[in-house]
Amino acid sequence: MMSSAWSWFVIIGTVVSLVAMLWLLFANRTTGGEEKTTGHTWDGIEELDSPLPMWWVWGFVITIVFAAIYLVYYPGLGNVEGVGNWSSQGQHDAEIAAHEDRFAPLYDRLGALSEAELIADRSAMQVGRRLFLNNCATCHGIGATGSFGFPDLTDAEWIWGDDFNAVKATIMNGRQAVMAPWGAALGDQGVTEVATYVRSLAGLEHDADVAEAGKARFNIFCVACHGADGKGNPMLGAPNLTNDLWLYGSSIEEISFTVRNGRSGYMPAFNDLLSEQQVHILAGYVRSLSAE
Ligand code: HEC
Ligand code: HEC
Repeated sequence: MMSSAWSWFVIIGTVVSLVAMLWLLFANRTTGGEEKTTGHTWDGIEELDSPLPMWWVWGFVITIVFAAIYLVYYPGLGNVEGVGNWSSQGQHDAEIAAHEDRFAPLYDRLGALSEAELIADRSAMQVGRRLFLNNCATCHGIGATGSFGFPDLTDAEWIWGDDFNAVKATIMNGRQAVMAPWGAALGDQGVTEVATYVRSLAGLEHDADVAEAGKARFNIFCVACHGADGKGNPMLGAPNLTNDLWLYGSSIEEISFTVRNGRSGYMPAFNDLLSEQQVHILAGYVRSLSAE
């Protein structure tokens, strides 16, 4: 909203210019009678001063009257709201409400389905895909296959738990992974050893002696979160290190970087942006991607 001084400035400016246009139109109008000339002549051609055609004058009057009616009905004169009570916010709200009314029955139906029913329901999967493309594809990719630091949602690993409610909780509340940096505690040699051991867990090519040295360190520093077998812990979002599915790459350099500097992947919460039903449908869609 404008301050009232600006509002009055706009009101006065608008009304005065409308009145001035009417005055200009009638004050300068020449009327019928004999043909007048302006008195100018060039090369024998005289400039006439004929009256404006009446349709043209009335056209002008109509536009001014239209402007007056418009300004009474719609907001336009400073802060005056207009008798029609129209506002762009109001129109927006009405459109949203109409949209919600239209989709409410669909969301009510889909929001009550179980995971298996959602996956079997064509419209649930269509709505889920649409929601995914609008909200999730920027990070997880159009095909949900992720990229460096953003998990692939179509693979077999569920870092934060694979049951339907865990996936729902991930979307609703977001997730903050915390893998502390271990460079200072392990030193360069220790980092290399433990990273080599991690590669051995995943069945990747490695030096067995170095891995053996790394195992001892792993059992001290890493088991609390990744488990004695390296299979991870969904409560902490600590990934399974034995399955050759990687968030941050599997080369010795990449694993060493993760161990030395730590990682803190962040999945934003969607409970403010999406309804509970939308999250429910999305969870079904996301689960369907790896269930296929
Ligand atoms: C406090 C719990 C915790 C401890 C202790 C911990 N990690 Fe992690 N680790 C995590 C979490 C959580 C992630 C996931 C980070 C993310 O998603 O950003 C992770 C990620 C990783 C990754 C990346 C996996 C991938 O898919 O790219 C590797 C490798 C790893 N940790 C190795 C280790 C090693 C080796 C140690 C011991 C030196 C260790 N971690 C200690 C919690 C821990
Ligand atoms: C700003 C980027 C971003 C957006 C947008 C985003 N995510 Fe994520 N998501 C992440 C990151 C990063 C992680 C991994 C967090 C970690 O390191 O553990 C994640 C993790 C997940 C997981 C857990 C995967 C697992 O293996 O357990 C699911 C499920 C998920 N996201 C679904 C979604 C859905 C559905 C949406 C859309 C509503 C979405 N994400 C939007 C970044 C994003």
